Amino acid sequence: MKTILTGVKPTGTLHLGNYFGAIKPAIQLGHQANAAGDRHIMFVANYHALNYLKDTAQLNQITKEVACAYLACGLNPEKSIFYRQSDVPEIFELTTILTNYTPKGLMNKSHAYKAAVDKNHAKGNPTDAGINMGLYDYPLLMAADILTFRSDEVPVGKDQVQHVEIAQDIAGAMNAVYGQEVLKIPAYVVQEFAQVLPGTDGRKMSKSYGNVIPLFGTEAEIKKAVMGIQTDCQDINAPKNPDEILLFHMVQGIADATVTAEVKEGLEKGGMGYGTIKKMLLAEIMRQVGGLRETYMDYMAHYDTVQDMLNEGAKKARAIAAPNLAKIKEVILG
Ligand code: ADP
Ligand code: TRP
Repeated sequence: MKTILTGVKPTGTLHLGNYFGAIKPAIQLGHQANAAGDRHIMFVANYHALNYLKDTAQLNQITKEVACAYLACGLNPEKSIFYRQSDVPEIFELTTILTNYTPKGLMNKSHAYKAAVDKNHAKGNPTDAGINMGLYDYPLLMAADILTFRSDEVPVGKDQVQHVEIAQDIAGAMNAVYGQEVLKIPAYVVQEFAQVLPGTDGRKMSKSYGNVIPLFGTEAEIKKAVMGIQTDCQDINAPKNPDEILLFHMVQGIADATVTAEVKEGLEKGGMGYGTIKKMLLAEIMRQVGGLRETYMDYMAHYDTVQDMLNEGAKKARAIAAPNLAKIKEVILG
C-alpha cells in the first residue's frame, strides 16, 4: 500500500483556475488512490498560511472555505484522510527534530525566500527586511508534513517540486547520520495536466489580478465575469487563428473536446461571434461547476459538521503519525 499525500494552502477567493489547475486533479487523484487501495492523505496547510496572514478571523475563514471547497468538489472524507495541519502536533515535533539535520544553505535556496530577498533588493531594502522564519523555513515544515506520514508520493504542481526535493535531501541527510532508513524518501509526482488557465484579461487567472471567474459564484456573477472576457474587434466573418484569441484559450481550458472543436472550427471559418462563444463557455462552466455552489454553501452553513469531519481526519492522521514519530525518536534518543 502506497501513501499519497497532498497539502493545500488556504488562499481565499477560489476561482476556476484553482479548480481546473489544482482542486479537480487532486480530487481525481484521491479517487484513483482510493480505488487502488492506497492511502490518500489530504490536508489544509493552515500553519503554512501563518507566515503571511496573522488575522485570526481571516485565517479561519480561508481555512473554512478551502475545506468546504474540497468536500463540495468531491473529496470523500470517509476514504481519504482529511485534516487541518494545526490539529496534528506530531508534524511540529518532527519539524523541530528536522531543523537539526537541515543545512542552513538548503533553506537559503528556497525559491519563496529567494523571491522575497529579490523583492527587498529591488526596493533597496536590507536583504531580510520583513522576512519571518515561517517564510524562511516554509520548506522545512512542508518536509515534516510529508515525512511524518512516510509518504511515498507527493502530487504537486511544478512550483512545488523544489520543496519536495528539499524534503528528499533532509530525509537523506538524516538517514546518512544514522546509517539506516529513519525517514522514507518521498517521490514527487508532477501533475503535468495542470495547465494554466488565463483570466478575463489574458494574464494567468489569479485572485491578485482581479481577473477571475469565481468557482462558487451565482450564475449572474459567473455570467458577468464571462461577458467581461477581453476580445478584439476583428470582423465576425473574418477567419481567425484560435491560438491568438484569449476566449479560445479559456474554452480550451474549460470546455469538453466537442465544444472546443466546435469553437475552433467556428473561429477558423469565421462567422462565429464572440458573444456566441461566451454563451457556449458560460453553458460549459455551469454544466461543470454550476452544481457545486449549492453543496459548497451547504457545507459553509454547517461548518460544525465539517469540523467534525476534520477532527475525525486528524484522529486518523495522528494514529499514523504517532507511531512513526515514536520510531524516529527511538533512533535519536535511544
Ligand atoms: P492565485 O494565483 O489566485 O493566488 P494560488 O496561488 O493561491 O492562486 O493557487 C492555488 C492553487 O491553484 C495552486 O495549486 C495553483 O497552481 C492553482 N492555480 C492558481 N491559478 C491557476 C490558474 N490560473 N491556472 C491553473 N492553476 C492555477
Ligand atoms: N506548499 C504547498 C503549496 O503552497 C502546500 C503544502 C504544504 C504541501 N505542505 C505540503 C503540498 C505537503 C504537498 C505536501 O501549494
